[in-house]
Amino acid sequence: MPTTPSPPEPRSAVRALLRLWPYVRPVRARLFTAAFIAILASCIGLVIPLVLKWMVDGPIADRDPAGVWLGALSLLLLGLAEALLFGFRRWLVARPLSHVEASMRADLYRHLQRLPVAFHDRWPSGQLLSRATTDLMLLRMFLAFPLTFLLVNSVTILVGVIIMLVQDWTLGLVILVPAVPVLITCVVFEKRYSGAARRAQDQVGDLTTVVEEGVLGIRIIKGFGRHRSQALAFRELSGKLRGTELHKARLLATILGVIVTLPELAIGAALVLGTMRVADGSLSTGTLVAFLSTALALRWPVDSIGFLLAMSQEAATATDRYFEVMDAEPESGRTAGSRAAGATAVPPLAATPGAGHVGGLRFENVTFRYPDAPDTTAPVLNRIDLHIRPGESLALVGATGSGKTTLTALVPRLHEVTSGRITLDGADITAMSREELRSKVAVAFEEPTLFSASVGENVLMGGGAGDEDLARALAVAQADFAHALPRGTHTQVGEQGLSLSGGQRQRLALARAVVGSPDFLVLDDPLSALDVHTEAAVEAALRRVLADTTALIVAHRPSTVLLADRVALLSGGRITAVGTHHELLRTNPEYAHLMSGAPAGEQEDQR
Ligand SMILES: Nc1ncnc2c1ncn2[C@@H]1O[C@H](COP(=O)(O)OP(=O)(O)OP(=O)(O)O)[C@@H](O)[C@H]1O
Ligand SMILES: [Mg+2]
Repeated sequence: MPTTPSPPEPRSAVRALLRLWPYVRPVRARLFTAAFIAILASCIGLVIPLVLKWMVDGPIADRDPAGVWLGALSLLLLGLAEALLFGFRRWLVARPLSHVEASMRADLYRHLQRLPVAFHDRWPSGQLLSRATTDLMLLRMFLAFPLTFLLVNSVTILVGVIIMLVQDWTLGLVILVPAVPVLITCVVFEKRYSGAARRAQDQVGDLTTVVEEGVLGIRIIKGFGRHRSQALAFRELSGKLRGTELHKARLLATILGVIVTLPELAIGAALVLGTMRVADGSLSTGTLVAFLSTALALRWPVDSIGFLLAMSQEAATATDRYFEVMDAEPESGRTAGSRAAGATAVPPLAATPGAGHVGGLRFENVTFRYPDAPDTTAPVLNRIDLHIRPGESLALVGATGSGKTTLTALVPRLHEVTSGRITLDGADITAMSREELRSKVAVAFEEPTLFSASVGENVLMGGGAGDEDLARALAVAQADFAHALPRGTHTQVGEQGLSLSGGQRQRLALARAVVGSPDFLVLDDPLSALDVHTEAAVEAALRRVLADTTALIVAHRPSTVLLADRVALLSGGRITAVGTHHELLRTNPEYAHLMSGAPAGEQEDQR
């Protein structure tokens, strides 16, 4: 299993969140309007204490019932206006923000499709899944709530403090005393929480990977009775995640403790001081009421800062995790380096399709090393020279692990050659667009992957235009069983084709490879799961296809090898022999050994 990519360097949350701007830009008008409305609503809330002051010092002191009714009515209207504005704000942001989330997710998916196979080899799928789900959800929540309310609450606190200072500046200063320790706590909290948030979100990714493997590998787990070890791995990871979440909760509890308690103490002190001053007549009752109700109205904006900061940190982490994937370099259509190589190594004539001697599929001095492999190890493929002439089919034989699959993956550019080049009819594959390349080359891999779609759709993924092509391809691949399925070629195959037998899947994958009548066919051991009779039937049909296709076929068995015109032997990263099956059987002990299983030297003709 690939390992979790390295954790990032520490960075500022604000800088991380600023990267969201391109996505937020289209909805900025609504977002700003919503923030403005929220500020307005919040400030209306702050007018309420002033009305109270007017009521206490005016109509209540004068025992004027009409004035009290008027005051009550205005309080009611103010409260109503505040509630309506907050509701309006929510309505304003809901739609645009789900749009932001959807477009970020669409971009991520598109990008994942374009990232090279080497990236997917390196990244565990759970990490990618969790970024596309949990992290994006965190971001939407952040944009909907903490982003606005960090602003709104700051403005509210500022306006509230000014109102209190205007009411009575000594009491105002008492209330302000906790500001410094609260700010320091916030800064310390930010630092600590950011690390914990990152850990938690990465652990969610790891956990997703384990769950995914557990579900996809359910057959193996059941078959080998590995429930316990799988459950153990799961428990261990979820225990870790729980630990991190508890750590986050403790941090949050600490900051909440400080930012709730200190202001509360200050309010208590102001209450005592204020009451004493009302008693000695230096402060009006109404002012004290207004002052305290303002202070109480500010309680929520202050208390909420803790979890608003926490959510912002999580959003910053989610943004980082999102852009770690988005920043990965996608497959380039062409590569400048190879273009240059093409320009120097081949005369211009060679680029003409079908140009005589350079036609067909050609490996020129191709060396390949997996991107993660240390430089000290020998390359998997070492200076390979191989020429498959137009219309010819070549079988590739080699011991297991010798690099056959790797070699075939280079043709559709699932991996890039480390050095050297591959040409199709004389044209360097790195000089053509991927669409062009992949329309010329069709592949069937060892592992016949199918998708949750109908049989027909799975096959037609390989190209082809309709029922006729489909029927022809199914016939070639001896996959006529598809017609006998409950709904024929419209039958849905389960996830990964697991509702079909191994041989059935293999034949559908083969049909997918031949359906588009490609110029070049690359088959990685396409007949391994078939019984001898089906194999013979597929071979007979395949022989007709191969007659006018340039093909590279990885083969383990003599019967498959015999489909090809010539055979190449891959050994130690090099092509050590090329010839017909019979030639090699006679002259090459390693080949004879691979084909017959007999000790080298005792070979005899296989057929
Ligand atoms: N994604 C990868 N990253 C790093 N090394 C890899 C990767 N895939 C394969 N290898 C290594 O490259 C070597 C060749 O593997 P490859 O799959 O090409 O062998 P093969 O000839 O197809 O074997 P088989 O006959 O068993 O299918 C092996 O040593 C393998 O460990
Ligand atoms: Mg292989």
